[in-house]
Amino acid sequence: MDISKFRKDFPLLNSDDNPTYLDSACMTLRPQVVIDALTDYYTNYPACGGRSVHKLSWQVTENFEIARDQIRRFMGAEKPTEIVFTKNATEGMNIVANGLNLKNGDKVLTSDKEHNANVVPWHHLSKYKGIKYEVLAAKDNYYFDLEALKEKITSDTKLVSFVHTSNLDGHTNPAKEIIEICHDKGVKVMMDAAQSAPHKEVNVVDLDVDFAAVSAHKFCGPSGMGALYGKYEELEKLIPTYVGGSTVVNSSYDDYKLLPPPSCFEAGLQDYAGAIGSGVAADYVMGVGRDNIREHENKLNTIMSNKLKDLEGISIVGPEDVSQRGGIFSFNIEGWDPTEVAMHLDEKYNIAIRSGMHCVHSWFNSRGIEGTARASAYLYNNESDIRKFTDAIEETLSS
Ligand SMILES: Cc1ncc(COP(=O)(O)O)c(C=O)c1O
Repeated sequence: MDISKFRKDFPLLNSDDNPTYLDSACMTLRPQVVIDALTDYYTNYPACGGRSVHKLSWQVTENFEIARDQIRRFMGAEKPTEIVFTKNATEGMNIVANGLNLKNGDKVLTSDKEHNANVVPWHHLSKYKGIKYEVLAAKDNYYFDLEALKEKITSDTKLVSFVHTSNLDGHTNPAKEIIEICHDKGVKVMMDAAQSAPHKEVNVVDLDVDFAAVSAHKFCGPSGMGALYGKYEELEKLIPTYVGGSTVVNSSYDDYKLLPPPSCFEAGLQDYAGAIGSGVAADYVMGVGRDNIREHENKLNTIMSNKLKDLEGISIVGPEDVSQRGGIFSFNIEGWDPTEVAMHLDEKYNIAIRSGMHCVHSWFNSRGIEGTARASAYLYNNESDIRKFTDAIEETLSS
C-alpha cells in the first residue's frame, strides 16, 4: 500500500523550506487532526475533568475516557481500566518499578540493549532498596538469547523487563517467546513498547504481557503524554507512587481510601488535552495501519541500507539483515563524531537526524563506542527524503 498520501496531513512537511525529517524514533511529527484536537480542547472546553458538574467538565470527562478507550484499542487491551495515562513511557515503567514494592534480594532482569528508562529505575532500586539488577547478554551482539534467559531466571527473579523494539538499531525482540519463558517460570513481564507499538501491531492480550509502556509522542501524539498498560489484577497489586487529588474515594485526618485502577495512578489534574490528543493520534495511526507502516519503513530502510552499506568509511550498528532493523538506520562515518554528522546534515542539507548514545548509554559504554548518527523513518517519509539523505552522505564522504 502506498501510504505517501498521508504526508499531506503533516503541516511541517507542507511548509516552505520543509526539513527532511528523519528523527521519528526520537519524536514523530503531528498530523493536523491531533493539533486540532488540542486546539479544540483549549478553545472550546478548557475545563477540569471528573470534578465539577457543569457541561464543560462533563465534556472533558467524556473525551478523556474516549481517549482511554482509543489507547486500549491501540495496545490491544481488553478493558479501558487497564490503561493508565502517564506523561511518557519512562513514567509508566517507574510506576511499575516502584509499585511492585520489591525487597532486598529480589531480582530484576533486562536485556543489554535497554533505554535508560528501563535501566536507571533498577539501578535506583538496587541502590536504595537492595534489589538485584542483572543484564542478559545478547547473542551475536544484537539478538535476544532465549536460552540464556531460561538459565538466568532464578527463584528470586520477580520481573523480566525488556525492550520490544530497540531505539538503537530498530531490532525487535521475540516478545511472545520471552513472555512464555518467564510465565512458565512464574515471573512477571514488563515490555517497553515505546518503539514497537507506533510501528507494528502490538496486542497485549495476545502476548499475555503483564505490563507495557508507550509514549504518545512516538505515535504522532502530543509530547509529555504516554500510557501504561497493566493486566487489571496486576495493576491492583501495585502501590501507587504519587497519590493525592483524584486518587481517593475519601480521606480524613486519620486515613484515606484509594480509588481502584486506573484512577489511583492518575494523581492531580490531568493533561486532558494531551490525553485526548493521544487518543486521536492512536486512531490516526491505526487508520494508516501499522502493518502498512512497518512495510513502508522497511522499504525505505532497504533503500538507505543498500545505497550506503558498502561505502568506504560507513559502518552500520545493528543486525546486518535490514529487515531486522525496522525504520532505523544507525551508523557512523569513519573520522567523524556522530554529532558532527548530525550538525552537518542539518546545517548544509536541512536534514534532521539524531546523534549520540540515544539514552542507551549502557550498551555503548560496554562496547567503548562513542555513539552513532541515527536516521529514523516513519509513515510520512517518502523515497525522495531517503534520496536526499543518501545523496548528502555520499557527498559528505567524498568531500
Ligand atoms: C525504546 C525506548 N524506551 C523508552 C523511551 C523513553 O521514552 P520517554 O522519554 O518518552 O519516556 C524511549 C525514548 O526514546 C525509547 O526509545
